[in-house]
Amino acid sequence: MVSVFLEDDNIKVKVPAGTTMKEVALKSGASMEFGCRVGDCATCAVHVKSGMLLLSDKQDKEVKALEIIGGNLSEIRLMCQCSVRYEEGEIVISYGL
Ligand code: FES
Repeated sequence: MVSVFLEDDNIKVKVPAGTTMKEVALKSGASMEFGCRVGDCATCAVHVKSGMLLLSDKQDKEVKALEIIGGNLSEIRLMCQCSVRYEEGEIVISYGL
């Protein structure tokens, strides 16, 4: 199981590989907001403070949305466009970019 810490809400959950980060946020009761939920609006952009390598690779749609908002793209993900891909480790997320 991978530990996901949603820093802004002080929520920590353990999830298996394959769990989407959207599920993590919605099922844990996190306060972060979603808009389109399909990778277009970037409302769900978060700062991945650690554990980026535990997440699925970015697809073209996510890259395009992130380029619009700018910032350090190596540390930012869209919660509606990524999932946990390994069975062990820790991911730390902050909503502030
Ligand atoms: S909610 Fe719109 S990109 Fe994730």
